[in-house]
Amino acid sequence: MPLLPVLFLSHLDVVPVANETLSNWTYGPFSGAVKEGYVWGRGALDDKVGVSALLEACTLLLREGWRPQRTLYFAFGQDEEVGGEMGAALIAELLARRGVMVDIVYDEGGSVGADGFPPYTTRPIALIGTAEKGYATINARVSAAGGHSSLPPLDGSSAAAVAARLVTSIDRRPPQASLVEPVTSLLAALAPSVPGLRGWLFALAASGLGSPWVERLVAEAFLAHDAPETAALVRNTAAITGLNLGFAENVLPPAATVRINFRMLPGSNISALMDYLHRAAGRDLLHLTFEMDGGQNASLATPVTSATNPYFQMLKTALQEVYQLADGGGRVDVAPTLMAGGTDSKHYLPISRGGALRQTPVSLNRTAGDGRRVHGLNERVSVGDFGRAVCVMRRLLMLVGTLPAPAPASAPAAAS
Ligand SMILES: *[C@@H]1O[C@H](CO)[C@@H](O)[C@H](O)[C@H]1NC(C)=O
Ligand SMILES: *[C@@H]1O[C@H](CO)[C@@H](O)[C@H](O)[C@H]1NC(C)=O
Ligand SMILES: *[C@@H]1O[C@H](CO)[C@@H](O)[C@H](O)[C@H]1NC(C)=O
Ligand SMILES: *[C@@H]1O[C@H](CO)[C@@H](O)[C@H](O)[C@H]1NC(C)=O
Ligand SMILES: [Zn+2]
Repeated sequence: MPLLPVLFLSHLDVVPVANETLSNWTYGPFSGAVKEGYVWGRGALDDKVGVSALLEACTLLLREGWRPQRTLYFAFGQDEEVGGEMGAALIAELLARRGVMVDIVYDEGGSVGADGFPPYTTRPIALIGTAEKGYATINARVSAAGGHSSLPPLDGSSAAAVAARLVTSIDRRPPQASLVEPVTSLLAALAPSVPGLRGWLFALAASGLGSPWVERLVAEAFLAHDAPETAALVRNTAAITGLNLGFAENVLPPAATVRINFRMLPGSNISALMDYLHRAAGRDLLHLTFEMDGGQNASLATPVTSATNPYFQMLKTALQEVYQLADGGGRVDVAPTLMAGGTDSKHYLPISRGGALRQTPVSLNRTAGDGRRVHGLNERVSVGDFGRAVCVMRRLLMLVGTLPAPAPASAPAAAS
């Protein structure tokens, strides 16, 4: 039987640049300036580098006369930043109609942490997203008596007071933290380079041999407090993204809406979010109703792609060969991670036998604030990293394109 095809994704669209921030860019966001050893511009990291690295790598291989031993598909969406419904979703549908099934999907995702994984370790680590969090927006509707603003209620039952208590409650007591795959595997990979008691607890929590108490301690006491990026790995996040109340300065509003955007861990679901909101509302529950927002479609977290999958190993090999060489032979760890945001790859999961692996082979130094350049000011990619991204893709294409028959049992592990 011929090998199943492999699908490589990137996206062509970028997020906008607000007019008020144009003057804050060192070089124009659409200049593509090559200055100071960097290529500057919106999309330099997300995700023009993915498209260009793939196309450059293909061009090099074709010039060398290389021929893959299987079909390789490339799909570049034009609306990833707004959900991919008119791009990736339609391409996936077309492929499905043609009866195409692929072995694995490679997409944008984790980067190479030049400064390690702050604040735990400074040893460089490349992250491969093996799962994506779920997405849901829920509106909390407050109903109140309303009336004349000259006679405000005395018992805290105004729409504004109820909405404010809900917002405060969500802000003070976010959803409970817990450890799930692939974060457990990430901890196992970090543990050896994390000094002291914390490294030991990481290893114990990741081994599954510790008590639930150890897991709770690691999730809640460390990860959920150190930075928004790590907190997002261990809990359903709840972000207040809308507040609406009042229409006249002298009228007590009869209603209010609080909009809450959730990102769910693998294994969580809408009813867990509703339970959380009911607890957050407490005694105000009788003034509140919760309903799904009509905006972007809700989705559960994706299944977790196994890190023992041969395609994970191939990407790991390509990343280590290129980045260890770049680092003068220093070790670069590679670990699975959970993506807090979404990618186009989720649309292709129904036609992928082995799931999706999400990685962008460029280095970021989060201590130096590089993380904020993605979707932010002064987005840029170093010329050296662009070259390395081409090398990683070239190596990956060769490894994938000349694979000996894959082991039959490389299906993704279910997320439960
Ligand atoms: C952008 O530049 C303006 C004017 O120089 C400054 O006031 C503002 O703080 C800058 N914004 C950011 C996000 O750096
Ligand atoms: C929803 O998630 C909760 C908490 O993770 C779990 O206890 C419950 O069984 C799930 N319900 C369904 C229908 O999967
Ligand atoms: C998202 O929702 C819209 C309507 O609400 C529906 O037409 C569309 O098929 C949904 N997309 C997915 C991927 O479920
Ligand atoms: C990352 O940035 C910090 C702060 O600017 C710097 O001290 C450190 O050397 C950088 N690390 C690497 C590997 O470039
Ligand atoms: Zn992107």
